[in-house]
Amino acid sequence: MNEIDNTSTNVVWHHATVTRKRREALNNHKSVVLWFTGLSGAGKSTLAHATEEKLHQLGCSTYVLDGDNVRHGLCGDLGFSNEDRKENIRRIGNVAKLMLESGIISLTAFISPFRSDRELVRGMMPHGDYLEIYCKADVEVCEQRDVKGLYKKARKGVIRDFTGISSPYEEPEKPEILVNTGEEKLEDCVDQVINILAKRGIIPEQG
Ligand code: ADX
Repeated sequence: MNEIDNTSTNVVWHHATVTRKRREALNNHKSVVLWFTGLSGAGKSTLAHATEEKLHQLGCSTYVLDGDNVRHGLCGDLGFSNEDRKENIRRIGNVAKLMLESGIISLTAFISPFRSDRELVRGMMPHGDYLEIYCKADVEVCEQRDVKGLYKKARKGVIRDFTGISSPYEEPEKPEILVNTGEEKLEDCVDQVINILAKRGIIPEQG
């Protein structure tokens, strides 16, 4: 491993003849990374999956990478210290970059609480291919919902380093999309994302 830029030594990149452009042409839409970020319980996964459902119905090739699933496998060795979260996001960022090359629309649902980690991922992709979607919901709202009962455990100190309670969440300063998942209806949030994709020419304009 090259200590300076994290690349492997003695490994040469192999260029495919089937390029991203050709894959996109076959799919009839462009590829993009939709990076959903927000507190636990803000509705990232719900919105990512509902958006995927809509895109699928429109004939798009999609894939959702979900924190709760990825942490069982690819990132099963990682916990929730700042260092582990950083490594979690670095790995997911690299997977998302591969998915971008594969010509699909990937949707990632990770808290990704640190601005520097999100900026690192943004920097891995060509400009405009990473769209940050801030799922904004107050911690009070997420705690009230407490779908997984984790806020209660965090308050009791059973779970340490819990985002929003005992670990920070750094709000995006300039997300491409801000959705008020704490207040707005799911369908409206989905429409908001779909409309921006159409406006940016990633998917065909909706009639
Ligand atoms: S991230 O911070 O590294 O981006 P990620 O999205 O993968 O986190 O995982 C978050 C999910 O793990 C939460 O939705 C929750 O279900 C669970 N979880 C378990 N412990 C914690 C914790 N200490 N802080 C936040 N989420 C936790």
